[in-house]
Formats: sequence, C-alpha cells, structure tokens
Amino acid sequence: MLLKASHIYKSKQEVDILKDVSLELYSSEIVAITGPSGAGKTTLLNILGTLEKPNQRTDTTLDFNGSSLLTLSEQQLAKLRNQSIGFVFQHHGLLEEFTAIENICIPGLIMKKPKKVVQEYAYELLETLGLTHRAHHKPQALSGGEKQRIAVARALINDPKMVLADEPSGNLDTPNALQLHDLFHHLVDQLKCAFLVVTHNDEIARKSDRILVLRDGEME
Ligand SMILES: Nc1ncnc2c1ncn2[C@@H]1O[C@H](COP(=O)(O)OP(=O)(O)O)[C@@H](O)[C@H]1O
Ligand SMILES: [Mg+2]
Repeated sequence: MLLKASHIYKSKQEVDILKDVSLELYSSEIVAITGPSGAGKTTLLNILGTLEKPNQRTDTTLDFNGSSLLTLSEQQLAKLRNQSIGFVFQHHGLLEEFTAIENICIPGLIMKKPKKVVQEYAYELLETLGLTHRAHHKPQALSGGEKQRIAVARALINDPKMVLADEPSGNLDTPNALQLHDLFHHLVDQLKCAFLVVTHNDEIARKSDRILVLRDGEME
C-alpha cells in the first residue's frame, strides 16, 4: 500500500469540510475522485499531498510509503513533495517565460540533480507524451491539451510515487480530456506510480481502476 489515510477531518472557519474520510491508494493504480462542487475534493487532495494539514485528532493517520506524514516538519514535507509527489492542477501552471523543456526540468533542478540527467529524462518524458516537437516552445505557443501534457511531464520529472491531479482535464474539450487520461494509463503501466484524479467527467471516471465519491465531506 502506498498511501493510507484514516479518519481525516478538516474544518475551516468552523465549517466541517471533511468528516471522517478514509482511503487507500496502491502503486500502479488510477483512482478517480468524483462528487459535486464544494464536496471537499480539492481539500482532500491538498491534505493527501501535504499542502494542507488535517484537523489534529488522535484517530487520524496519514501514512505514505510506510511512514507517517503527520509528524514531519515543513522542510521535510517540502522535500517529500518535491521528490515523491507530482501535482497537476486544472490550470497548467507553467511559467510563461520558459520553454516546455525548461518548465519540465524545474522540479529536477530544485532537487539539485545534474542538469544533464534532468534534461535527458525530460526528453524521454516528452517522447512518451508525443511532444518532442514542442520542446522549445513557450506555453503561449502550445494548445490547451499540450500544456496539460507538459504539466504532467513536469509532475513526473522526479519519478514520483504518486501523482495528485485536481480536475486536470477541466479546461479541455472531450477528445483532449480522454487523450490525457489515456496517457495516465500508459504512464502508470510504464512508471508504476499511482494516480489520484479528481474529475467531473463520468467517462473518465469509469476508465479508472476505482471510483471514490465524495459528497458533503464524506466518502460514499
Ligand atoms: N479557506 C476556506 N475557508 C472556508 N471555507 C472553505 C475554504 N476553502 C474551501 N472552503 C469550503 O470547503 C468546501 C469544500 O471545498 P473544496 O475542497 O474546494 O471542494 P471541491 O474541490 O469538491 O469543489 C466548500 O464548501 C468551500 O466553500
Ligand atoms: Mg475542487
């Protein structure tokens, strides 16, 4: 088991956003999280990715790759996120001043890996994504689908154990959305990481290994 979260609660401004949510994630699987807007999907993903902390309760556990995340310092969490967790958001978040290949390399350079090693892997990922011909384009010259695929490559550059994607195809038309998710399956087969994907698209959810439904802060 890669990730095990139990009894996650989260309240903000005295509103209960997550109420006793538990889930498990295994390597090499794609799990979809669906549910209405406001259900707490983004909050849950942020907590699993250590971007937010759950409420402090004695029954809450959050274990990743065999160790608890709840006792790590901010510095340890930042390192863990950089090394082991990939993030993809609805908005690509690419830096406009940099080319596709430069954007992909940034998390690898932050990790202080040799530039040449990072670049070689970035080109490998571009090849897997069918985007070698776009390596030296800046984001404004790329289509929406291409930008999201570059964002996926950036999320994968440090070979994470888990990718958290929050409505990654929310800004894409249906063919591009389906293409992106087909790519997730291809990447999981190749890299053996896990994908946890929030999506509103039923067709995409059905293609996942499992579907979790979050409604009003509770897992159905
Ligand atoms: N900073 C905040 N303060 C208070 N309420 C918040 C805050 N952030 C989110 N919420 C509320 O938490 C609920 C869940 O939000 P979110 O996790 O973004 O849901 P989803 O991603 O499923 O749409 C919503 O009702 C939202 O209004
Ligand atoms: Mg959301």
